[in-house]
Order: sequence, then structure tokens, then C-alpha cells
Amino acid sequence: MIIDIKEKRIVVTGAAGFIGSNLTDSLLEQGAEVIGIDNLFNGRMENLDKAFKYDKFKFYKGDIRDLNFLLDIFEDIDIIYHLAAFTSVPQSVKMPENCNDVNVNGVLNVLNAARRMDVEKIIYASSSSVYGDTPTLPKKEDMCRIPISPYGVAKLACEAYMQTYHKVYGLKTTSLRYFNVYGPRQKDSTYSGVIAIWLGNIIRDEDLTIFGDGKNSRDFTYIKDVIQANLLAVKQDVAGEIFNIGAGLPITLTNLATLLLKLTHKEHLKIKYTDPRPGDILHSYADISKANRMLKFEPKYSQEKGLEDYLKWYDQKYGTNLILN
Ligand SMILES: NC(=O)c1ccc[n+]([C@@H]2O[C@H](COP(=O)([O-])OP(=O)(O)OC[C@H]3O[C@@H](n4cnc5c(N)ncnc54)[C@H](O)[C@@H]3O)[C@@H](O)[C@H]2O)c1
Repeated sequence: MIIDIKEKRIVVTGAAGFIGSNLTDSLLEQGAEVIGIDNLFNGRMENLDKAFKYDKFKFYKGDIRDLNFLLDIFEDIDIIYHLAAFTSVPQSVKMPENCNDVNVNGVLNVLNAARRMDVEKIIYASSSSVYGDTPTLPKKEDMCRIPISPYGVAKLACEAYMQTYHKVYGLKTTSLRYFNVYGPRQKDSTYSGVIAIWLGNIIRDEDLTIFGDGKNSRDFTYIKDVIQANLLAVKQDVAGEIFNIGAGLPITLTNLATLLLKLTHKEHLKIKYTDPRPGDILHSYADISKANRMLKFEPKYSQEKGLEDYLKWYDQKYGTNLILN
């Protein structure tokens, strides 16, 4: 059975963030009514400029750890996309209690409020960090998970809560394990994804830095593919499941940096190598066959195609001339 998003009332937590705001725009384009919530810890109101053009969009500033706030918001809601989180791996190493409080207590609050308000479905933004540094590649959903950061531990605990609330209370929950997402609105800060940081360096004509020897590989997933997966997770009638969401194409950090410099015609800039950071994983890429089989998920963006799309958006938004066609 295919579920129609158009008539649904949907809450997006973390709506002012990178992925949440892109998802919000997409849901509104599909005709859904969307209520965004965010405490603006890391999110930005300007990310919601497009969303505010729709009558069917409302935004409330608030914290997912505030149960009464959630109970008010969740009245007559069909679906919740839960993306609000403490999102930085290195920060989680510095502040494990804060990470646990927002990510684990926050998820419990969302689940409890959803249950009390009879919400039908919750789609949870999990992470490839749950796998940790296990040697087996590609990563498959049912393989051993040994996270190596407090962030990864919290994401693993939250997936378990999602599945338990499905089994015990019948809530339709789905966890999507994203692999290194990049694209428009990602912040250029020390704690962001590496592509947004490098783009900032390129704009300022600075050399790029890689933590480690650059041989570590990742499965960089373009935001539009992540949005596709989120829409499918509601449209397809699945529950109690966990899915890898990646491009399924590993690339080393050195090759990625080289590609970015080539696309932006900045090959005069250097790639510098420095000590690896605690909590960083050496190699990771997704086996996406389960998402393909059960959600009909098919990533459409190779790293090159995704970077080109991102750079075009960047040039349009900031009047830069990064990508010359
Ligand atoms: N970006 C990635 O590569 C990636 C990879 C795997 C998983 N994820 C997950 O996807 C989700 C979205 O990530 P993102 O990259 O958009 O990060 P983001 O930091 O841009 O968005 C998270 C949002 O949550 C909000 N938030 C934080 N604490 C809150 C609280 N207590 N109450 C209400 N709002 C709060 C922040 O203000 C922010 O707007 C997160 O759950 C993240 O863990 C992201």
C-alpha cells in the first residue's frame, strides 16, 4: 500500500537545521501540512525562508526535552520526522552528557508524546556512526555495531528505542541510518561535514585539511537522495525497520578533496594532512540493498553529480563563481 503524503499533518523536529529544512521544503512541495520545531541551538531561521512562503507551514521554537511543548504540538499529527539532535561527533566526545540528554532523553520524550497523542508514524534520523570501526565493508544493517563515540552510542540507543516502541506499543517507527550527508544549507563550521568546511576554505582561497592520512573512505550522500529516502519511508508501509541510506559508493578523503578542487578550478590549493580525531571512523560505506528492496530507494547522485548540484546552488545563493560550465 502506498501512503499519500499530500493530506498528512507532519511534524519535523530540527526543522531549522541542514537536513530538516530541506525535508520541510520537500514535504511542503508535496502538499503536506508541516509544523517545524527547533530550539535554534544549531539551526538558522533563514533556512526556513522558502518554507514560510507556504500557508501550510508553521514554526514553533522549543526544545524536544520539554514534554508539555511536544504534547501541544503533536495534537492531530499523523507523522513525525525526528531530526533534532546534538549532531557533532567531536563535540559529543567533549560533552557526552549533553549529547545523551538531547539525543536519548529527547527521543524518549518524542516517543512518549507521540504515543500519548496517537501519532501514526515516526521516521528517525539515525547515523552510520552506530557501526563504529568494525572492519567489515560494506556496512549491513544487521551486522555487529560497536560505536566509537558518545554520538554513535546515543544513535544506537535511539534506534533500539524506536524498535522497542514499535514492538511494545505498536507505534510505526522507522530508523534511517544516514551516511555522511552533504548539500545546500550545511554549515561551514569546525563541527560540520567536511565538504561544507572545504567549500568555506575554497571560498577564502585556503588550503584544505584532512584529519589522518586521507586514505580513510566515506560514503558521501547527497541531500536530495536523503530526502528521497525520507519520503519513501512514509509512502511505503514499513514499520519497526532500520535502513542504511547512502550513495553506496565509497571515496577516499584525498580523492574527494581532489575532485572538489578540480570542480571549482582551485587546483593551486594544497591538501594538508594532520592527526586523526578521536571518534572518527576509518572506512565506511553502505550496503543499500535493504532500502532498495523494501523502500524502493535508488540514489541518483554520484559524488561528482552531487557536488556539481551543490556548487550550482552555492553560486546562485552567494553570487560566487565556483563552478564554470
Ligand atoms: N549531516 C549528516 O551527515 C548526518 C549523518 C547522519 C545522521 N544525521 C542526523 O540527521 C539529523 C539532522 O542533522 P543535520 O545535519 O541537519 O544537523 P543540524 O545540526 O543542522 O540540525 C539539527 C537541528 O536540531 C536542532 N536541535 C538541537 N537540539 C535541539 C533540542 N534540544 N530541541 C529542539 N531542536 C534541537 C538544532 O538547532 C538544529 O537545527 C540529526 O539527527 C543527525 O544526527 C546527520
